[in-house]
Amino acid sequence: MLRVVVMVSGGGTNLQAIIDKTASGGITNIQLVGVISNNKTVKSLERAKAAGIPAVSVSPRDYENRELFHQALLEAVDGFSPDLIVLAGFLVAIPTAMVQKYENRIINIHPSLIPSFCGVGCYGLKVHEKALARGVKITGATVHFVTEGMDEGPIISQKSVEVEENDTPESLQKRVMEQAEWILLPQAIDDIANGRIAVENGRVIRK
Ligand code: GAR
Repeated sequence: MLRVVVMVSGGGTNLQAIIDKTASGGITNIQLVGVISNNKTVKSLERAKAAGIPAVSVSPRDYENRELFHQALLEAVDGFSPDLIVLAGFLVAIPTAMVQKYENRIINIHPSLIPSFCGVGCYGLKVHEKALARGVKITGATVHFVTEGMDEGPIISQKSVEVEENDTPESLQKRVMEQAEWILLPQAIDDIANGRIAVENGRVIRK
């Protein structure tokens, strides 16, 4: 059983998709051992508690500087002894020490087709604002392993979603979540938990 920790910042709809797929047998061979939020007041923590998953918040506001926040975050992660860490809408940069310690054991969902609309400053609704401003006709979501470069790690899976004529950032975000994110992220976790993928020479291969 893979011990999985999910890290979140906001609403937690991706967390909910993981919880639901685990309960219905769509993800096997995992145990959801903890949820960590950088925000004390988010819906994600309620979702975790309702599912009986231990949930903690580690907020940068409670620490004098970034270094101390990063230390506390890593301690919270280590406390759950995870085999896999899932960034499910975790919108703050994670400590380099954590990336190094958990190499090839951290995955992230990003709401665009990487390498479009990713990197510094591209997160959440901003991604969809940029996609609409650029006038792309197709966007989507990507699940990837986390490396030190932001959104640069080996790509596990991607799914395209059509942009519609009258889309707003909100309507596009909703469609990308429904048609791509909530499917891709649980699938990637199930693939990892059942040994179907591996990283070789910086790329993900299916076994
Ligand atoms: C999701 O759209 C996720 O892809 C995005 O934040 C949202 C969180 O929603 N993540 C990023 O932008 C990471 N760069 P949720 O809290 O409802 O799952």
